[in-house]
Amino acid sequence: MKTVRDTLLGRRSIRRYEREQILPEQMSFIYDAIRNTPTSYNGQQFSVIDIDDQAMKELLYSLTDQKQIKTCSHFLVFCIDYYKIAMGAEAKGVEMPDFPKTADGVIVGVVDAALAMMSAIVAAESLGLGTCPIGYARTAAPDEISRILELPKGVFVVCGLALGVPREQPDLKPKQPDDLMFFHNKYSTENIPRRVLAYDQVIKEYNSTRAGQKSDNDWVKHIISYYTEAMNYNILAALQDRGLGVER
Ligand SMILES: Cc1cc2nc3c(=O)[nH]c(=O)nc-3n(C[C@H](O)[C@H](O)[C@H](O)COP(=O)(O)O)c2cc1C
Repeated sequence: MKTVRDTLLGRRSIRRYEREQILPEQMSFIYDAIRNTPTSYNGQQFSVIDIDDQAMKELLYSLTDQKQIKTCSHFLVFCIDYYKIAMGAEAKGVEMPDFPKTADGVIVGVVDAALAMMSAIVAAESLGLGTCPIGYARTAAPDEISRILELPKGVFVVCGLALGVPREQPDLKPKQPDDLMFFHNKYSTENIPRRVLAYDQVIKEYNSTRAGQKSDNDWVKHIISYYTEAMNYNILAALQDRGLGVER
């Protein structure tokens, strides 16, 4: 098993996998790590759908165009889950408030599911496995994916995670430097444009020199092009359809 330091600092998204499957004992460790994720109120407002059926993976691939889904060994779908507690409330005759329909209810579920995904990433990486989060599992076809996964009301996909035996070792992406990422005691807007442009240049250089597929992408314009694409997603409607949403 890798050290914590090597696990965290050597992690990079892996998008190509060997045909070899992940061992059951490795999945069992990943499950344990997911289950021990800290959650708001200990409410454990999340569930994970572990997909290893090839036909199901191909179906999700056809909807998302993310080839990692069909080539990975296990595709984990991390969902906000208020269905389980609602069923508990019904069984005990307790009234379930409309918490899933509040901004905080959605944030609580997203944070829990995202932390659970990170637990899985760290556990898998420590075993030498490769991981890649797949946000398109949420955005590409929310209604159809919810239907295929047979999600009950109160359950909403936050993110997918492809897991497999790595078949590539891409260069680590340079991340924002300390002076852009960390602030001392309070936020400081000083010199942010200059620091952002310096980082933009670092990414441009990385993209033009990295091993494998090179590009002339910068950071700012490239990320904003993703935001522009994301303006077409109607996630609020998808959330509301799942019995969640933001009414207040
Ligand atoms: C919430 C989330 C969603 C993501 N969705 C996708 C995706 O749909 N497809 C993909 O190839 N990578 C996806 N990624 C991976 C990011 O592109 C990747 O983390 C980022 O480029 C930084 O690279 P690194 O993970 O190698 O450090 C996602 C990452 C996160 C955290």
